[in-house]
Amino acid sequence: MIVAIDGPAGSGKSTIARELAQRFGFEKLDTGAMYRAVAFMAADRGIDLDDEQGVEALARTITIRFAPVEGALRITVDGRDVSREIRTPAVDATVSKVAAYPGVREAMLEPQRAVAEGHDIVAEGRDIGTVVFPDAEVKVFLTADPRERARRRVLQRHGGDAPDAEALEREVEETLAAIERRDAADAGRAVAPLVEAPDAVEIDSTAHTIDEVCDRIARLIEERR
Ligand code: CDP
Ligand code: CDP
Repeated sequence: MIVAIDGPAGSGKSTIARELAQRFGFEKLDTGAMYRAVAFMAADRGIDLDDEQGVEALARTITIRFAPVEGALRITVDGRDVSREIRTPAVDATVSKVAAYPGVREAMLEPQRAVAEGHDIVAEGRDIGTVVFPDAEVKVFLTADPRERARRRVLQRHGGDAPDAEALEREVEETLAAIERRDAADAGRAVAPLVEAPDAVEIDSTAHTIDEVCDRIARLIEERR
């Protein structure tokens, strides 16, 4: 069985995919991490991100793998663990550019589909239900109000130590602007844009907890089993 979860930044895809994978014993595939890895490696190797052919050549030659280390899933590029490096603001700001290159997307397809061979999976990203697994048994389009998504991202960044109300508000404003820029780029690109599949179930998580959303999707999975 393939469970596809698509949606904009900060809607809860990773958290909910992780939780569902655990509940059902499915593999989890974070496709955003793969595009992040390409953006990070291009910068690391000094490739100009405007050089479409250069970035595409890189995406074709690197090997991206996910491997569990002490219970947590790590991402490696040619054996190098880049799990921390792909979560920086620099990568946040550049990933949508490389993800819009058709050759980069093409290079990611095969390894993404390979994860589903012989496994039940929960895959999350932007084009899972439309392009990567158009025949997925369960498709969810997860949304939330943009300001709520920005607030969640800021709180996530601070872990347990939330800043005071004024600093929080300032950071939410900055993060909201960055999220909206990225959503616009992802939804506006020509290839595999962020768009709801016609047969997806849309879930707005603005006023719902992670557990509530997971329970809802779990019911969809049970129904399809
Ligand atoms: O975690 P967050 O929602 O902020 O982002 P992500 O899922 O890690 O994805 C990072 C970026 O990768 C997105 O903004 C897209 O530009 C790109 N992406 C994509 O184009 N297609 C996917 N299936 C997944 C991510
Ligand atoms: O993967 P994506 O960018 O869609 O979102 P995420 O990284 O899973 O979620 C961003 C943050 O929002 C995490 O800290 C989640 O715990 C939180 N979240 C929440 O508070 N309530 C939800 N219903 C969904 C996510």
